[in-house]
Amino acid sequence: MLSKRQARAFFLGGTFVFSAAFVGLTIDTHRHVPKQTNAHLITPEVVAGKKIWEDNNCMGCHTLFGEGAYYAPELTKTVERRGKAWLRIFLKDPEKMYPGRRKMVNYHFTDEEIEHVIAFFEWAGQVDLNGFPADPPLRDALAATSGVEYPEPLPLPVPAILETAACTGCHRVAGQGGDAGALIGAPPLDGVHLRKTRDELIQWISDPQAIKPGTAMPDLVPSVISDAQVIEIVDYLYSPAN
Ligand code: HEC
Ligand code: HEC
Repeated sequence: MLSKRQARAFFLGGTFVFSAAFVGLTIDTHRHVPKQTNAHLITPEVVAGKKIWEDNNCMGCHTLFGEGAYYAPELTKTVERRGKAWLRIFLKDPEKMYPGRRKMVNYHFTDEEIEHVIAFFEWAGQVDLNGFPADPPLRDALAATSGVEYPEPLPLPVPAILETAACTGCHRVAGQGGDAGALIGAPPLDGVHLRKTRDELIQWISDPQAIKPGTAMPDLVPSVISDAQVIEIVDYLYSPAN
C-alpha cells in the first residue's frame, strides 16, 4: 500500500510525465503537418475547390479524410480511383453515370468550378494520412459476386479514348483504371473479347441501356463518344496481341 504522500507524489509525477508526453507529441504532430499535407501544393484552384466543397455541404452526404456523413462514397482517393476524365463527366451530370440508380446532386457546375473541385480532390488524395483509406479488397468482392476473373491484361498503351470516355473510371483495363466499378459489377475489360463478338461489343458500348435496361453502365454515345470512337475502342479490345 502507498502512503498518502507516496500516492500524491505518484499522481503528480504521473500527471507531469504524461502531460509532457502529450504536449511533446502534439508539437511533433504539428511539425509534420505541412509536410504530410503537402502544403506547397495548395494552389488557388485547390482553395477555390475547398470553398465549393464547404459552401455546398458535400459532407452532408460524403466523407473526406474519413470526416462527414456515411451516405455517399469516401472521396479522399476519388481522383486516383476514377481519373479526372471520369470525374469531369460525372460532375457535369452525375445521373448519367448512374442511370436509374440513387443519385448524386447535379450542382450545374461550370467547367471552371469542376476543375477547382477536381484540383481540391487531387490535393486531398496526396495528403499523407498514415495509410487511410485502406485499400478495399475489391477484386475479391468482384470475383465473389460475379465470378469474373482477372485475365491477362490487354497490351499497353491503352488508347487515350478509354480514359477520356471515362471507361477506366469504372473498368480496369491493362492494369490501368481503378477497381471502383467492381462494386457495381463492372468487369475488367481485359479478356472481354473472349466473351463477346465484335458486333456484340459495338452494340453494347453504343447503347447498353437498350440491350439491358436498367444496367449500371451508362449510355455514353453520342454525348461523350462518337460511333467512330466506339470502333476504335472495340479494335483495341480485339487488338492483334489477343
Ligand atoms: C444528397 C447527397 C449528396 C451530396 C450533398 C453530394 N453528393 Fe456526391 N455523391 C452522392 C452519391 C449517392 C454518390 C454515389 C453515386 C451514386 O451512387 O449515385 C456520389 C458520388 C460522388 C462522386 C464520385 C465518387 C466516386 O469515386 O465514385 C464525387 C466525386 C462526388 N460525389 C462529389 C461531390 C461533391 C463535390 C459534392 C458537393 C459539391 C457532393 N458530391 C455532394 C451523394 C451526394
Ligand atoms: C459508370 C460506370 C461505367 C462506365 C463509365 C463504363 N462502364 Fe462499361 N460496364 C459497367 C457495368 C456496371 C457493366 C456490367 C453491366 C451489366 O452486366 O449490367 C459494364 C459492362 C461493360 C462491357 C461488357 C463486359 C462483359 O464482360 O460482358 C463492356 C465491353 C463495357 N462495359 C465497355 C465499356 C466501355 C468501352 C466504356 C467507355 C466508353 C464503359 N464500359 C464505361 C459500368 C461502366
